[in-house]
Amino acid sequence: MVKPLVAGNWKMNGTAENLGEIAAIAEAADGHADVVDMMICPPATLLRNASYSASGTALKMGGQDCHPEVSGAHTGDVSAKMLADAGASAVIVGHSERRADHGEGDELVRAKAKAVIAANLLAIVCVGETLEERESGQAVERVTSQLKGSLPEGATASNLVVAYEPVWAIGTGKTPTADDVAAMHLAIREHLSSAFPGEGSQMRILYGGSVKPSNAAELMAVDNVNGALVGGASLTSADFLGIVAAYE
Ligand code: 13P
Repeated sequence: MVKPLVAGNWKMNGTAENLGEIAAIAEAADGHADVVDMMICPPATLLRNASYSASGTALKMGGQDCHPEVSGAHTGDVSAKMLADAGASAVIVGHSERRADHGEGDELVRAKAKAVIAANLLAIVCVGETLEERESGQAVERVTSQLKGSLPEGATASNLVVAYEPVWAIGTGKTPTADDVAAMHLAIREHLSSAFPGEGSQMRILYGGSVKPSNAAELMAVDNVNGALVGGASLTSADFLGIVAAYE
């Protein structure tokens, strides 16, 4: 049995005044710790204070992106080691917003995932098709190709999580049907099982894209869905905990 992970991606949202939401989630985390892992990925500016808010609780912290190198002349970037130093135990890499806004391709995403693992953190690697790719029947092919290009050799069930986030479902209120999610997660599982023998069958595959309290139970019950990567609904403790409640 794979323990699910519900992770909140705050994206470019949140200042010190929002730390109370993290404190409220942290306060509830121990009550869910037996059945689900919980994580918030705040902006890097909040990471250290958010970690203090969550210290001593089961709530984990993550970063949203990192540079593939450990240190150096890369103005404005942060490394996985720096995120770990600020309290992160995971880093999201390859989010579609990074792929689109910053032109990040699979090779760079793989290098970042490697850097995350080398820093002894959990890499949360995002993949997902656009609406055009889905409508032209190429969704599975596109996602499989991203997996082939983005996942580093030697990844294990304890150092890597895949997040399937259809681009057209992010922030739109639209979600794929449970059958479509099942088909995609099965295709991802099959790829992982053959690419990482002995590990791929245990790797967590999160679903992300307009997850909210009202649809979480249905999405989380789908085969091979081992948790969620939540954007907008992770910004308030009430909504985030409403999603976690899908595992009660
Ligand atoms: P929303 O939950 O706001 O659709 O965002 C999903 C996402 O991109 C999480 O990484």
